[in-house]
Amino acid sequence: MKVKGNIKPIEWCGSYVDLIDQTKLPYEYTTVKIDTYEKMGTAIKDMLVRGAPAIGVSAAFGLTLGAMSLENEQSWDDFYSKLTKIADYLKSTRPTAVNLKWAVDIQIKLVESYKDKSIKEAIKALEENSIKILNDDITINKNIGDNGAVIIHKGARILTHCNAGSLATAGYGTALGVIRSAFANDPTIQVYADETRPRQQGARLTAWECIQENIPVTLVTDGMCGYMMSKNMIDVVLVGADRIAANGDAANKIGTFTVAIVAKAFGIPFYVAAPLSTIDTSIESGEGIPIEERNKEEITHINGKLVCPECVNVFNPGFDVTPADYITGIITEVGILKPDYKKSIKDVF
Ligand code: MRU
Repeated sequence: MKVKGNIKPIEWCGSYVDLIDQTKLPYEYTTVKIDTYEKMGTAIKDMLVRGAPAIGVSAAFGLTLGAMSLENEQSWDDFYSKLTKIADYLKSTRPTAVNLKWAVDIQIKLVESYKDKSIKEAIKALEENSIKILNDDITINKNIGDNGAVIIHKGARILTHCNAGSLATAGYGTALGVIRSAFANDPTIQVYADETRPRQQGARLTAWECIQENIPVTLVTDGMCGYMMSKNMIDVVLVGADRIAANGDAANKIGTFTVAIVAKAFGIPFYVAAPLSTIDTSIESGEGIPIEERNKEEITHINGKLVCPECVNVFNPGFDVTPADYITGIITEVGILKPDYKKSIKDVF
């Protein structure tokens, strides 16, 4: 495996998408050819591609692939009605990350504006817009990185949860993007990546990404944050988000809320880094955010090996919601939003 910087999890190749298979990292670096919308839906469900912005970008291409399969439809109405079914299917693949819905809805709106043109032209527009969504995401992440780097002081020790890096986006990352930008100014910062049970995105992906770019990283388990904060080992917490409600409540990978509670107990700043596309102003508070429940094997097995009694009951929510009161700031591409989030979010929309 010979990967260093500039990790590109999603690449458009004209008639198909190459996705890095994130389920195989860090053991194996392979890409998978996705040439149908069904394959894209399965790749999102099975988490070959994961992370809120990355699944949004992937779904935009998924819809383009779906439209390409409808190129020979006889009428606009048939094309449109079949495409909206594909859109609903793609949106159903993972319920919590709003970027998925955001990207698919943008694409459907675009198609609607082509009603009086040919199906071919609509497909071309979808393809071009998918590429734009991908490129914009990288630019947005770099802006998030630069906006966030100012809160990272010299030599800061940063705890992060899950993976909000290049792999979770079209490139650069949100929380890890802030870390990348801070590291470019100050190579003495240190990252603590918690492993993030059950799928271990912190251990498998964040630690791997940091190592690719020589960012100093130490792997810890999820349960260590209380001990580490009590021993004054953490200066700041930086995480991503899958959906942020209009009041600032933020859903992110399960375990994030626990880290936020401990950070508040020790007076440690807790920042969420996310693009504006992760903010869902149609939802008033975190109560309204749908939480994905995943299969029990994610908990009962590690690397295919059963690690508990086979018949045990399992509860496996994929995300939790950190209430706005626990969040010091939300780092976006337009700046750092501060409490009162109801007001600061309203001001940017
Ligand atoms: O289940 P995952 O791996 O898709 O969950 C990802 C996260 O929770 C990330 O922290 C979040 O999507 C932000 S990614 C920039």
